[in-house]
Amino acid sequence: MDDAPIVNAKETDKVIIVTGASRGIGAATARLAGQRGYRVCVNYMRDRSAAEAVVRSIEADGGRAIAVPADVAREDDVVRLFTEVDDQLGRVTALVNNAGILESQMRVEQMSADRLHRLFAANVIGCFLCAREAVRRMSTRHGGRGGSIVNVSSAAARLGSPGEYVDYAATKGAIDTLTIGLAKEVAAEGIRVNAVRPAFIYTDIHASGGEPGRVDRVKHAVPMRRGGYADEVAKAIIWLTSDEASYSTGAFIDVSGGA
Ligand SMILES: NC(=O)c1ccc[n+]([C@@H]2O[C@H](COP(=O)([O-])OP(=O)(O)OC[C@H]3O[C@@H](n4cnc5c(N)ncnc54)[C@H](OP(=O)(O)O)[C@@H]3O)[C@@H](O)[C@H]2O)c1
Repeated sequence: MDDAPIVNAKETDKVIIVTGASRGIGAATARLAGQRGYRVCVNYMRDRSAAEAVVRSIEADGGRAIAVPADVAREDDVVRLFTEVDDQLGRVTALVNNAGILESQMRVEQMSADRLHRLFAANVIGCFLCAREAVRRMSTRHGGRGGSIVNVSSAAARLGSPGEYVDYAATKGAIDTLTIGLAKEVAAEGIRVNAVRPAFIYTDIHASGGEPGRVDRVKHAVPMRRGGYADEVAKAIIWLTSDEASYSTGAFIDVSGGA
C-alpha cells in the first residue's frame, strides 16, 4: 500500500488551532471543529471574554477547548501559541489561518506606510509564521504524522476591492500564493494546504472598514442575491481540514454566493 494516503491522525488525536477565533468565521470554525471531535485552540488577540465564551460553547457540546491570546503578527507570540498547544492539547494536526484585519475604506493614493505594514504583518506574515510552526510539527521530515493547513483568503484576491481596500485584497493575493507554493513544498511530507475564499459574510470585520452594513449594500450584486454566514464558511474549512479531503491540496473553495 505504498500509495495509501497519510491520514491526519486518529479521530481522538485531532488537535486544531484556529487563529482569530473569538468571533466571526473563526468562532464558527472552532465550534464546528469541536463538534467534529477536534481538541480546539481558540486563538484571539484582544477579546478574552469572547474567546472564553467560544470555549464554553464547545465544552457545552461535550468537546475540549482552550483559549490562547496571541498576536499572529508577532513571532514570539506565535511560538508561544504553538508551545502552549503542544503542552495542553498535544501536537497540532490542523491549522486554520483565519485571523485577518482590514482598515478604513480608501483609495491607494491615500494609504500610509504604517497602515500597509499593519495589514501585511497581520494578514500575511501572521499566516507564514503560523504555517511555519505547523509544518515543524506536522511534517514527516521532522518526525511528524502529517496534517492539514487551511488559509482563509478572500474573493478580494480575485476582485481587487477598488476604492475600498486594494491593500487588503493584495494581502489575500499573497495568501493564495502561499497556499499554492506551500502545498507543493510539503505535499510529499503528509501535509495538505488549501484555502477558502469567502466574500460578503455577515461579521464584524466590515465595521472595522467603516461600513458595518456593507454586506447588505452589495448583496444585490452577488449572483445568489444574499450575503453569507460564518457557518457556511466554517463547513468548507472543516471539510478541507478533514480526511474527506485527503486528495485535495493547493485547492481553493470559493464561498461567495457566485461572486
Ligand atoms: N467577513 C467577510 O466578509 C470576509 C470575506 C472574505 C474573507 N474574510 C476573512 O475571514 C477571516 C475572518 O474574518 P471575520 O470576518 O470573521 O473577521 P472578524 O469578525 O473581524 O474577526 C477577526 C478575528 O481575528 C482576530 N484577530 C485580529 N487580528 C489578530 C491578530 N493580529 N492576531 C490574532 N488574532 C487576530 C480577532 O480577535 P480579537 O477580537 O480578540 O482582537 C477576531 O477573533 C479574515 O481573514 C478575513 O479577511 C472575511
